[in-house]
Amino acid sequence: MPDSSPPIYLDNAATSFPKPPEVGETMHRLIQEISLSPGRSAHRFSLAAGRVIFGARERIADFFGCPDSSRVVFTSNVTEALNVGIFGLLAPGDEVLTTGMEHNSVMRPLRYLEKTRGISLTILPTSPTGGIDPDDIPNHLNKKTRLIIINHVSNVTGAMADLAAIGKRKGGALLMVDAAQSAGVFPLDMEAFGIDFLAFTGHKGLFGPTGTGGFLLRQGLMLPPLTMGGTGSNSELEEQPQMMPDCFESGTPNTLGIGGLAAGLEFIKKTGRETIRLHEERLAGLLLEGLSRIPGVTVHGPPAGTDRGSAVSLTMGGKSVADLAFLLDRHYGIMARAGLHCAPAAHRSISTFPQGTLRLSPGFFNTEAEIQAVLAALDRINSEA
Ligand SMILES: Cc1ncc(COP(=O)(O)O)c(C=O)c1O
Repeated sequence: MPDSSPPIYLDNAATSFPKPPEVGETMHRLIQEISLSPGRSAHRFSLAAGRVIFGARERIADFFGCPDSSRVVFTSNVTEALNVGIFGLLAPGDEVLTTGMEHNSVMRPLRYLEKTRGISLTILPTSPTGGIDPDDIPNHLNKKTRLIIINHVSNVTGAMADLAAIGKRKGGALLMVDAAQSAGVFPLDMEAFGIDFLAFTGHKGLFGPTGTGGFLLRQGLMLPPLTMGGTGSNSELEEQPQMMPDCFESGTPNTLGIGGLAAGLEFIKKTGRETIRLHEERLAGLLLEGLSRIPGVTVHGPPAGTDRGSAVSLTMGGKSVADLAFLLDRHYGIMARAGLHCAPAAHRSISTFPQGTLRLSPGFFNTEAEIQAVLAALDRINSEA
């Protein structure tokens, strides 16, 4: 078994690895040079930490086409960001239109509010590869539809939703986008796409460390925060301040992580988002093409050459996907993820529930040789009894 070669990481849909060197270097420098608590004091370390956060906020606003960086809120991941939006925007009697491809970070809060707050859900049907038809949306809207929630790129099949078309069909509802899998790779312009609430995570395509993420809130839209406490501003008040972004950012922030996230964004700017997208597209294309030549493999997702993310889900005849992931890791040094990927609804939609799929998710730092190695390993596993 070829286990002396370096390990191959193909779980970038979970979190990107490696991070660009400047992410670690920036974090190393920051933790050595300043005390990292912004906005709480007037001394130079606190002011420097404030500049780290402000700089990152400006970069995020610029990256997502948001004209006002005070509308950017940092959270610890996209899950928290989505929870702030879902809990803050929905009232009893509201209706939500969402898709059959959502992650549990959307489905769990929605199912909870369905039971406890009397909201109702409509789930848009998907194609067998996880696509949704934007033209279907107006058929499901009514006066009570408060929110449309869309997963931009599926973490299960790679299927991509056409946000520009959806934004044009949202009627009087607010559009919330889960950009966990697309931010950093695909164009995402809040204003151009008519997005009201854009939730992102920092540790995937944006190359930041885990523990970073946030949301952008369209100008004029307001909602209550999920957490309240010290913000370093209006400290004379015992009530939560009203101003953005402080009202949503209680407690000492993850300055270190946010500094790393800013370095990740800088890397994307330097490299070019389109360069990153094209490389991932090439790797996913190679993978899909190679998989089509392995008998017994079924790919659950859109074909190569269509608008899709780089995550590729597959099953191999009757073989257990957990066993496949185990064999890849132990015998070939290849890290992949098997199962439901925190998205049981998506697997129900594409008929791979409850076993799930084996997911291979190439990222910017993978090479064509690594994809060939994975294909060879799968071919060999397939030919073994
Ligand atoms: C589509 C989607 N939404 C939400 C999440 C949750 O991300 P996080 O764990 O960073 O909150 C993920 C992560 O896998 C995802 O792929």
